[in-house]
Amino acid sequence: MTETVDRLFVHCRQLVTLTDGAPTGPRRKDAMRAMGVIEDGAVAVKDGRIVAVGRTSEITAKYRAPEELDLEGFVVLPGFVDCHTHPVFAKTREQEFHMRCAGADYMAIAQAGGGILSSMRAVREASLEALTDRTERHLWRFLEHGITTIEAKGGYGLSLESEQKSMQALDAAAALVPLTLKRTFLGAHEFPPEYREDRDEYVRIVCEEMIPALAPMSDYCDVFAEPGVFTRAQSERVLKAARDAGLRLRVHADEIKPMGGAEMAVALGADSADHLGQISDAGIAAMAASDTTGVLLPGTIFFLAKPGYAPARKMIDAGCAVALATDFNPGSSHTQSMTLIHTIACTQMKMSVEECIVASTINPAFSLQLDHEVGTLHPGKRADLCVLDIPSYEALGYMFGGNPVAMTIKDGAPVAANFSDHQPDWFGEGAALDGEGDGAE
Ligand code: NIG
Ligand code: FE
Repeated sequence: MTETVDRLFVHCRQLVTLTDGAPTGPRRKDAMRAMGVIEDGAVAVKDGRIVAVGRTSEITAKYRAPEELDLEGFVVLPGFVDCHTHPVFAKTREQEFHMRCAGADYMAIAQAGGGILSSMRAVREASLEALTDRTERHLWRFLEHGITTIEAKGGYGLSLESEQKSMQALDAAAALVPLTLKRTFLGAHEFPPEYREDRDEYVRIVCEEMIPALAPMSDYCDVFAEPGVFTRAQSERVLKAARDAGLRLRVHADEIKPMGGAEMAVALGADSADHLGQISDAGIAAMAASDTTGVLLPGTIFFLAKPGYAPARKMIDAGCAVALATDFNPGSSHTQSMTLIHTIACTQMKMSVEECIVASTINPAFSLQLDHEVGTLHPGKRADLCVLDIPSYEALGYMFGGNPVAMTIKDGAPVAANFSDHQPDWFGEGAALDGEGDGAE
């Protein structure tokens, strides 16, 4: 007897399921290498959820469906999870990029009123409609890059009114785009000009006015804890107020100068400490003994042309839960390509391709409390798939500069596709999409 489901995705050259590891929880050390690859794989989907994964012959013997999509020639992964993004902004900042290329420093540009403050001016000036439109465009682009779940921060308004507008724009955009999304309040991203001479007063406003108003519209609170921006004491004050208001915590920690940010994040029970280019050995030890995920953002270091990639090898070998994210933002990392992040993580941080895959699927899902929903292809989870035009999963990281994502499937439905440019043909003739070719078995 065959069971009827809604859709079958069949004949994936490699289906990377991650099902030979636990369905939930972070993967550490050697557990980051288990890929659960099924050759000629298939996925059965019902009500947007995975019913079963297996070899195509097994799945088609057990399940039938009114719709069957032949993915012959493609490598299929769980949809990527990007757990650190800043998509609510109104204008790009290419001038600063060229200033940096000509020798200017990122923090010096920021201190001169550029940087985050220039994005703040654009967000404050933008109407809710304009900000929503812009954010919606950014959200669709994650799907084009195979990213099906994101964490999205505000943080370019820096006033009660404009942070509220940012979260409203995010909610309105998210309602239009089929992404799974968690929201982060980041009022403590920078000090706005009106409080630069009275920073503690801004911290008070964040704690006493902004957090109570924004908590109902947010899942997390984040702080840019960095010498010259929010001090450790100021960061702790904001994070504790957020925790008291029922928000979970994430921290921009130890990015440019060391500050014990990782230790602070662990001590406060944060779900993630992010950046970590300057993490100390004590910080690594604290994270390894905790469930605070280390979210590494190598695109930022690459784009700012700084030394100081996070010590990924040391962190993974010590047993930290490690994730990778794009840090998509208008200043320090204008990319939405997770596969470019893989290239930088492999070449600059010496991560293996398997570690990159885990770090952009199940580990970031864990850091967002979404590991029971996404991040692997275990039955019962959302049928979120990233369909890649590459010869094998090992080609992730190796092929760079283009977008290898041929199709993105969200909750069982194709939502973004680029088939015209993506006829898979890595092994000669026959990798046809209509299923009539021989493929490479
Ligand atoms: O994660 N570090 C602070 N925030 C962002 C950069 C924001 C910006 O330059 O606009 C980051 O890199
Ligand atoms: Fe960031």
